[in-house]
This record gives sequence, C-alpha cells and structure tokens, in this order.
Amino acid sequence: MINIIRKAKASDSAQIYHLGKKIHELDFSRKYPFHELSEIKEFISRPKENILFVVEENKEIIGFVFAKILSHHAGGWCMLDNIGVEKQHRHKGIANELLHALYKELKKRKVWYVQILEGTHHKSTRHFWKKQGYKETKTFVWAEKKVSM
Ligand SMILES: CC(C)(COP(=O)(O)OP(=O)(O)OC[C@H]1O[C@@H](n2cnc3c(N)ncnc32)[C@H](O)[C@@H]1OP(=O)(O)O)[C@@H](O)C(=O)NCCC(=O)NCCS
Repeated sequence: MINIIRKAKASDSAQIYHLGKKIHELDFSRKYPFHELSEIKEFISRPKENILFVVEENKEIIGFVFAKILSHHAGGWCMLDNIGVEKQHRHKGIANELLHALYKELKKRKVWYVQILEGTHHKSTRHFWKKQGYKETKTFVWAEKKVSM
C-alpha cells in the first residue's frame, strides 16, 4: 500500500476531524475533547501560522500532524499541537514520516525549536516523544475554566 504525505487542504477538514475524534489520547480533557471542525478549517485556512500534514492511503486520511508557529524571532519556535495515526496503521513508521515532513517544512521556514505538551496520563505517548528525542523541561498542570458573562 502506498502512503502519500501532503499538506492538508480545506476539503480534508472533515476527515481530519473525524479521525481526531476517534483518537482519545488527543482529547484535551473529558469536557473539552479534540478540536472542533470549525477550528480545523481555520487552521488550514492560515498556512502562514499553521502547518498541517496528512497521510493518505487509498484517498483516506489515516494520520496527521499539526504545528502552530508561534514566533519567527530568536530562531523561531512552534508548538507541535497534535500527531495522530489511526490505530490499525500504527507501528509502521507513519508518525516518523509525518515528523520528517514537518521538520523539513520548519527548516524551510527557519523555525528551529519545537515544543510539545506531554499528557501526563498517557505513558506510551511519553515514551514515543522520548524516542523522538524530546527532553522534558518544566512540568505544567493544565487548569480549565469556562468564562461566563
Ligand atoms: C504516537 C503515534 C502518533 C505513533 O504513531 P506510529 O505511526 O505508530 O509511530 P511510528 O510507527 O512512526 O513509530 C515511530 C517511532 O516511535 C516508536 N513508537 C511508536 N509508538 C510508540 C509508543 N506507543 N511507545 C513508545 N514508542 C513508540 C516506534 O518504535 C518508532 O521508533 P523507531 O523510529 O526507533 O523505530 C500513535 O501511536 C498515535 O496516534 N497515538 C495516539 C495519539 C498520540 O498520543 N499522539 C501524541 C500526542 S499529540
């Protein structure tokens, strides 16, 4: 089977959204799950700030990576927001390929520093990042509140 890695297009939004919803490790919290469809559409519509690559197999999106460029100053840095691969396609090197495509794009844009937020409750994800060469820095605890008027 041949996988194609390419930049996401507006017409991919719904597929990315549905795949993201299926991957529960990508939920921010129980109350605030994966991104909304409108957010994904917005990310894709702003390619200067956001980099979103997808992996396609037989016209079906089976994985994605999303990073947000936060600054072009001081070497440039970005937040790697999400990487996800459909369960039945894991351990075949797809995440490695997605990260390779992302790093190539970051290099092109002269962004040298990548940050991730590691979820403390998914041990295997932490192992994954460690294997990818990410080193833990400060530990932050997410707190959330809905602002009501
Ligand atoms: C994490 C995830 C993206 C990995 O995708 P994948 O396509 O299976 O990963 P790959 O096959 O490309 O493996 C890449 C490397 O990571 C390692 N790896 C993959 N999954 C791993 C895991 N759960 N624990 C430890 N190492 C892991 C592989 O052994 C491989 O190492 P190598 O290059 O030295 O051989 C996938 O398991 C997933 O979608 N998880 C749920 C979402 C998630 O947790 N995302 C990260 C937080 S945003």
